[in-house]
Amino acid sequence: MIIAVDGPTASGKGTISKALAAHYGLPFLDTGLLYRAVGQQLALNGGNADVAADALAVCAFPDALLDDPVLRNEEVGGLASRVSVHPAVRAALNQRQVDFANQAGGAVLDGRDIGTVIAPHADVKLFVTASAEVRAHRRYEEMLSRGLDVDFDNILADIRLRDERDAGRAEAPLKAAENAILLDTGDLTIGAAVQRAIELVDTRRENRS
Ligand code: DC
Repeated sequence: MIIAVDGPTASGKGTISKALAAHYGLPFLDTGLLYRAVGQQLALNGGNADVAADALAVCAFPDALLDDPVLRNEEVGGLASRVSVHPAVRAALNQRQVDFANQAGGAVLDGRDIGTVIAPHADVKLFVTASAEVRAHRRYEEMLSRGLDVDFDNILADIRLRDERDAGRAEAPLKAAENAILLDTGDLTIGAAVQRAIELVDTRRENRS
């Protein structure tokens, strides 16, 4: 079974995807990490994230970079969003994701274009979302708990900018696939959101068999 999970930043899609992978015993790929690795490698080597050739030049980053916690930083997320606009970068990262999706036994992948581009044939597609305010609030709380000095308005502005860039780009924009099931996590605890996601997957599977 292939499960495609897409959605904007801080929607809860990562936590939900990991929980689904554990529940169904499937391997999991956080595809955002690949774009984050490109962004971070660019920061290390020097170059402009808005210049396609600069971003393409660092797409062959070392695999060990994927384990670096620095990839989780907000700055790296911003760089990832910028490099992901370039079609050449997306093409360079495409095969790895397609191969992961199509491995024997299936997989769970999360990202922005999994249900539309990487695995349009996925058995189940979820589009996980919540309002920008709710997502900013979550990010704010999470950063506060890490002892960071944070400003809510800055976080909200950053989330809106990322949404706009990810959804507005010409190539593989963030959007729900036609047959995706919408899961709004705005009013749900993370536990309830995971439970709901499992119910949705089970129902979709039953309907298909
Ligand atoms: O899910 P994330 O926040 O780690 O993703 C970081 C950026 O990477 C996101 O803003 C856009 C890009 N991305 C993408 O374009 N396509 C994907 N499948 C995953 C992420």
